[in-house]
Amino acid sequence: MPHPVHQPYVTTTPFSIGLRPITPDHLIEVDDALGRDLALKTELYATDEAAVFRAEPETVVAQGEALDAVLACLKEHHRDLYEIDETGVTIGPTGTRHAFQDFAAAPLKLASLLVQEDLCLMRKGAEGWRLAAASVCFPSSWSLADKFSKPMSAIHDPVPGFAGRMLMVVERIFDNLQIGQAVERFNWSLYTDSHLRHPEPHPELLESLNEIALAERLTVRVERQTLSRLPESGDVLFTIRIHVDRVDALRHHPDREKLAGALKEQVLAMTAEQRRYKGLTVAAERVAAVLDRIASAA
Ligand code: HEM
Repeated sequence: MPHPVHQPYVTTTPFSIGLRPITPDHLIEVDDALGRDLALKTELYATDEAAVFRAEPETVVAQGEALDAVLACLKEHHRDLYEIDETGVTIGPTGTRHAFQDFAAAPLKLASLLVQEDLCLMRKGAEGWRLAAASVCFPSSWSLADKFSKPMSAIHDPVPGFAGRMLMVVERIFDNLQIGQAVERFNWSLYTDSHLRHPEPHPELLESLNEIALAERLTVRVERQTLSRLPESGDVLFTIRIHVDRVDALRHHPDREKLAGALKEQVLAMTAEQRRYKGLTVAAERVAAVLDRIASAA
């Protein structure tokens, strides 16, 4: 069973801003599930495109910039997987060829069909930064239809502690983000399955499972997010990459004590409001007991 790629629960407190600089060409992460994830995206586009892709009409040029940013990362770090020429892109592992001209009206759609990330374009307006275009196939308990074209304040309305100072700081970070100075941050949540797409509100199942079931089903869903300024439009490209790690697999990790211990501490340190948001009001103690056993497993 693969080990977690990112362990933000060891270093970052949930519900914090926690931005770190990255090199601008490090927006995209590719792993062995590329083919599986792109097949899922293709199916979602085919069955219900409006659920996964929305764009304001004036965003086509900025979408093209987002595509350029993604292509630049792929050229820099994943030459072995993608063949990029003047007319289009071939994805090596799947053999799929996409022609640029087929996506002239929606370049962000093409960008999203090349990588495992979800991609959002944020644009500054009278109400602050809003979600002006997006391909979101793998949301963590939210839906694009609800959030599209809304400003950061409304998008984060359900998030405890976001309104007020945090919103102000985030807006300022967006205002001041420099071209070529990309940043990353992480969110994590507990779920009861490994599905990538969760458009429904936080899973109630977590609250109803007993310790035995939790021990079998608990997964950590880690979101790696990046922010980077697009040079021409001044919009911000926001990427979201989901990693799902079975908690049970931590049993076999050499650092299980540290990882399961950190997760447990973070769950127990949440306020009542934060627990409610994460679907952990009743489950927190049971989850902590499961993690405790993993941390101390011989
Ligand atoms: C520095 C920038 C940002 C910060 C610090 C931030 C912070 C947060 C935090 C703390 C949460 C709660 C997540 C959790 O722990 O479960 C959250 C949720 C969320 N964020 Fe952000 N966020 C940022 C940027 C964005 C952007 C650009 C978008 C645009 C799509 C976005 C969309 C969302 C959505 C949709 C949720 C779920 C809200 C819900 O429950 O309905 N965030 N964010």
